[in-house]
Amino acid sequence: MLPTIKWDDKKVIMIDQRKLPLEEVYVECFDYEEVAQAIEKMIIRGAPAIGVAAAFGVALGVLQIKTRASLHEEFERIYLRLERTRPTARNLFWALERMRDVFLENNKLELSSLQQVLVKEAINIEKEDLDTNKKMGASGKGLIGDGDSILTHCNAGALATAGYGTALGVIRAAFEEGKSLKVYADETRPFLQGARLTCWELDKDNIPVVLIADNMAGSLMQKGEISLVITGADRIALHGDTANKIGTYTTAVLAKEHGLPFYVAAPLSTIDFEIPDGSQIPIEERNPQEIREIDGRLITLPQIEVRNPAFDVTPARYISAIITEAGIARPPYDKSLSLLKNKIIDND
Ligand code: MRU
Repeated sequence: MLPTIKWDDKKVIMIDQRKLPLEEVYVECFDYEEVAQAIEKMIIRGAPAIGVAAAFGVALGVLQIKTRASLHEEFERIYLRLERTRPTARNLFWALERMRDVFLENNKLELSSLQQVLVKEAINIEKEDLDTNKKMGASGKGLIGDGDSILTHCNAGALATAGYGTALGVIRAAFEEGKSLKVYADETRPFLQGARLTCWELDKDNIPVVLIADNMAGSLMQKGEISLVITGADRIALHGDTANKIGTYTTAVLAKEHGLPFYVAAPLSTIDFEIPDGSQIPIEERNPQEIREIDGRLITLPQIEVRNPAFDVTPARYISAIITEAGIARPPYDKSLSLLKNKIIDND
């Protein structure tokens, strides 16, 4: 299993995803500011992994509080800093809200006990994420047939989570069952999560993978070389509209045109039950230099205007099913997702 992020006594260790696949370097964070910067700089990325990092960030921050006198102000400062890191990933806010609930339930405890409770909660969030991904794999693997060729976009794998992955978790589960399959990985400009991260992890697990440039998917579908598409999600609105890495919408439209299933795999913590549709999902705009340069080298003129939205929204009508840890949701998603959420609450 790939180590994405780990709590280690009073520090957090994460693999530096900017350096993969050529260098496997680990970064250590000793305080919440370092965790916040690691999220902003994409040392760690992928919605569930960002959530785990934020929970660890809160734990590190609270460990540094020296006196109960400023407890609430300090907690608020830590919370707001981590919340400002990346706006689209619902799991970031979900993990922070969960840490705040535990803080408020236990804030009468002695400081050292409260600190231990919060460290434990953050470690639980990490462990639960891995477990959730395994369950998602079990729910979704039946959607993949023996001999299928699967297109995926970005990296929704072990590196984007506490381990195993969401979209890649479903693929892993089908592969572990003995199905013969091939994954087509979109390279995913500009950060190249597909080329650098998805290919790296699948290759490590000996899952056959073929790298393609982002503009090739349509042609491969037209030639009958793709059987289905599976991606992860950063935030899913109540009616099923799904924000994921920029370019996901294009693959969904292409899949519909070619009569191919388009699946989203995501934990229930990615679903924003407060937002009815995708128009209200905040979309992160990143630094224009990420488009003007490749590996620090200009590929256009420095003054050229650039747009760099990091995510797009795929309307629910393009999504054949949403695979979660509680089962598979089919349209209409407001009903099916709410049922799955209640099923999890009843089982708790
Ligand atoms: O900008 P990133 O790399 O954080 O974007 C990641 C994605 O879009 C993933 O597909 C999504 O977070 C799901 S990860 C299980």
